[in-house]
Amino acid sequence: SADSLALAESLIVSIPDYPERGIVFRDITPLLADAAGLRTAIDALIAPFAGTFDVVAGVEARGFLLAGAVAITAGVGLVPVRKAGKLPRPAASVAYALEYGEATIEVHDDIAPGTRVLLVDDVLATGGTLAAAHELFAVLGQTVVGTAVLMEIAGLGGRELVSDVHAVFQG
Ligand code: PRP
Repeated sequence: SADSLALAESLIVSIPDYPERGIVFRDITPLLADAAGLRTAIDALIAPFAGTFDVVAGVEARGFLLAGAVAITAGVGLVPVRKAGKLPRPAASVAYALEYGEATIEVHDDIAPGTRVLLVDDVLATGGTLAAAHELFAVLGQTVVGTAVLMEIAGLGGRELVSDVHAVFQG
């Protein structure tokens, strides 16, 4: 309901100047810690994609927290998209610019060709991370059916880079 969504949203805390001056960090840990908030958030995250995906891909690290819950809720498997150097069998590797700093993400190729992938992360900011995640699966020839985030931060260009994004909350 709108009430439970508003309650869930109220559990996301904005922390100014973290991890660097000028960055407003969206801290979702109070939301994760609240059973009703977490349930509401996960249901809203996947609602537009019901029946459209066979696997959820979560982006390290905060995307992992959501992807596990999404996988069990939707009855699908889970693929971790990890920062470089963490996976023993990386099949694809993509470097990208971050709102603060830069990074490389990697993924295994453990899913059958044509598996329908839903990308999940906590926040869409510049879109660099999720655009890179799209590229990872494109390199592998996999199909991404959509992107789901808890919060989209407007004004940073994220939606231009990740046009298929569904955001539960706008921040
Ligand atoms: C944060 C966030 C998203 C990304 C969003 O992750 O969890 O993955 O940045 O920013 P973007 O849209 O500008 O790419 P971060 O790289 O800080 O990693 P973490 O989850 O491991 O803290």
